[in-house]
Amino acid sequence: MGGTGFLAEDGMSEAKPKRPEQTGAKQTGDDRLPGDPDRETLIERMIRVDHAGEYGAARIYAGQLAVLGKHPVGNTIRHMAEQEKKHLAAFDKLIVKRRVRPTLLSPIWHAAGFALGAATAAMGEKAAMACTVAVEDVIQEHYADQSEQLGEDEVELRDLIDEFRAEEIEHKETGLAHDAEQAPGYRVMSDFIKTGTRAAIWLSTRI
Ligand SMILES: [Fe+2]
Ligand SMILES: [Fe+2]
Repeated sequence: MGGTGFLAEDGMSEAKPKRPEQTGAKQTGDDRLPGDPDRETLIERMIRVDHAGEYGAARIYAGQLAVLGKHPVGNTIRHMAEQEKKHLAAFDKLIVKRRVRPTLLSPIWHAAGFALGAATAAMGEKAAMACTVAVEDVIQEHYADQSEQLGEDEVELRDLIDEFRAEEIEHKETGLAHDAEQAPGYRVMSDFIKTGTRAAIWLSTRI
């Protein structure tokens, strides 16, 4: 009888570090709505779609480099391509570590990413940069959404996403600095690529 009282009074129970869910800190999935996937599915989907997205991004830059690699803008594109490879390598590791099934659509992103990069690059440097701005803008928004959904129980993943998002924003700014907006038909092309990128995100989350 006295034993439990003693324990409670000497503060031992207070000394134990509190788990985040006991401190009121945000947890992943806290803002889920009825009918939304459970926490594990949510994280699995995030890793699947991010892995697919980084794969697609790496392929877009590969396509651009196939056309503009020896052009003066080649080194700028190469720098972004290297960062995409680093992003992809991180998600390659995560997909194994967290046992996430990769998207079944990789063969499509392999071809479509490269084709998009090469086709826009063939239209010229500004069109290639317009493609970069459109894609990176959608991706950075997508990463912001994910970061918002992740809680203190997923700090590592959230930090990674925040870090990559900062680089996607840099890529977008690089595109703008290279006169992306002066590409012929900029608006139409940008809307078209953004719609395609959003569709790719939607599909890769689920399939
Ligand atoms: Fe990336
Ligand atoms: Fe990027």
